[in-house]
Formats: sequence, structure tokens, C-alpha cells
Amino acid sequence: MKHVCAAALISAAFAVPAAAQEIKIGYALAEDSHYGAGAKAFEESLKESLGDQFTFRHFPSSGLGGEREVIEGVQLGTVEMTIVSSGTLSNFVPEAGVFDVPFLMRNLDHARAVLDGEIGQEMLAKFDDVGMHALAWGEQGFRHITNNRGPIETPADTEGLKIRTMENPVHLEAFNALGAAPTPMAWPEVIGALEQGAIDGQENPLSVIVSAKLNEVQKYLTLDGHVYSPAIILISPQFWGNLDDSQKAAFDEAAKASVAAMRGYVDEVEASGVATLRDAGMEVNELTDEQKAVFRDALAEPYKSYEAQFGKELMDRIQAVE
Ligand code: PAF
Repeated sequence: MKHVCAAALISAAFAVPAAAQEIKIGYALAEDSHYGAGAKAFEESLKESLGDQFTFRHFPSSGLGGEREVIEGVQLGTVEMTIVSSGTLSNFVPEAGVFDVPFLMRNLDHARAVLDGEIGQEMLAKFDDVGMHALAWGEQGFRHITNNRGPIETPADTEGLKIRTMENPVHLEAFNALGAAPTPMAWPEVIGALEQGAIDGQENPLSVIVSAKLNEVQKYLTLDGHVYSPAIILISPQFWGNLDDSQKAAFDEAAKASVAAMRGYVDEVEASGVATLRDAGMEVNELTDEQKAVFRDALAEPYKSYEAQFGKELMDRIQAVE
């Protein structure tokens, strides 16, 4: 008995706290972007609930590569977590491409209601079937066109415009139908291609245009809000599978905090971003609802193909969300 007690005392004296597990989290934008805000909020929430069990190592500004490579890293388990756009998601879960359909979401409130509701949650569950776990839908905002050629008011103004799109077939089809010359490209190459004039323009939400300082390489901004751009928080299934139930619950809570931070950033930049970009020298025009309707009508053909791919029923269900 004496021996057992002594052994217990000795092991208690030399006990070291279990080593914290490192979480590598990769994202395409700077730490002061909406992704940085989301990643930081996630880390803080987890620290509050689980103390020092996990440490975060941030890889902002595409530090782990383009979004497709990072998602593949999450599948392989070499990257624990990422926050990414929907750019390459439909290569992994084709149905998720429905959120990339132009002019489908009416406004931020509508998009948030869709993603937080049944449709968004059903879509998140599909990621478990393709070797990753999706914690929540985050947000970038509505995408707008920037370019160096001139203001865009009608589809004719996009004629032949060398515009970088995400590696996303839904977007590619829309810009082709408008008569533009879309070039799908991974984000890490975009600023260089704009600087060198290899492309005329690109399209992204204000959150990206402001945080990536695209005003330094682009003259014109057209606020056309052609498509809502969600983000998603993905976690590697190997890592997720090793968490116990209470840890998983803490990660789910942290994901909520992360989404709130991303949306807060988007709300803020929607309010102040245009003034920031004008002050930085960009020429900004905003399409009226009538002008947007002309763009929407020019997408009649792609719309038939979107309905064939994703199902008219799903698209109607999305539009019916209040
Ligand atoms: O345009 C893109 O590829 C994405 O919106 C970006 C900037 C990488 C953010 O996810």
C-alpha cells in the first residue's frame, strides 16, 4: 500500500500537463481581413471554453497555397482547419455550386437565412461524405466587378473583358454568357496578373477588395452584386474524429463565434468600404435595380443549365426562404 501511495505521489510530482494540440489554420487573405477576424474569433472562443488544450498557428495570405490545395490538405489531414470561399467547393460537393448561382440570393439577410436554415445545414452535412467536416457557413458578401478598362453599366461593357474568375464552373458559365473573356485562376496569382496587365479585372466582395487593397491595381469598381459569396469553415476528419463530445461541442460554439465575426466584418465593410475605395482613388459606379435586371436577363441560358444541374426545386426553395 505504502509503495502504491509513494508511486502516486512521485508521478503527481512529475506530472506534466498534456501537450496542447496545434491547429494549423490556413486562409487566403490577410489577418486583418474577414477571414482573419473569423479565425481569431474561433481561437478566442476555444481558449475560453477549453483553456490551453489547443494552440493555433495561422497561415494567412495563402501561406499554405491556393484554396483548392488547402482543402486537399484538410482532406489528407496535413492541415487541420481552413476558412475558404465557395470557389473550388463544387469540385468536392457539386451540389454546393447552387450557392454560386448569380442573382439567386436577394440580400445578406436572405443569404444568411438560407445558410443558417435547413438548406445550408443539409449542404454542410454532405462534406462528411467527401473526406472533410464542415463546421459552418461563413461569409464574404456580394461580389462586384473591378477592372482597369472602364465603368460597367450594361452587359456590353463586359464584352471581351479579360476577367479573372474563381475556378468555379457556375461563374465561368455566367461570364461567358455575358460576352466577357473569363480566365479561371487561383487567388495567389491574381494580384500579379492584374499588375502585369495579363487580365483586365476580377470580381470579389468589398471585404476582399478592401482587405487585399485591390485599389492599388484596379481603377474601376462596379457595384453590381452579381452573386453572393459564402465562406465555409472546414476541419480535417482525422482531427475531428479524435475529439471527444465536449470538445466537439466547443468547436461548434467556436464556429458560431467565427461566423458572427465574419458577418460583423462584412456589415462594417459594406457600410464603409466604398468610401475607403473612393478615397484611395477608385472610380465607383453602382448599378440600379433596372440595370441589374438587364444582367440577370442576359443569363437566361446559363439559368437553364443551373436548373438542370442543381434542380429547379432546390433553386425555388432557396428563393422561397424569407
Ligand atoms: O476570389 C477568390 O478566390 C476568393 O474570393 C478569395 C479572395 C480567395 C477569398 O476566399
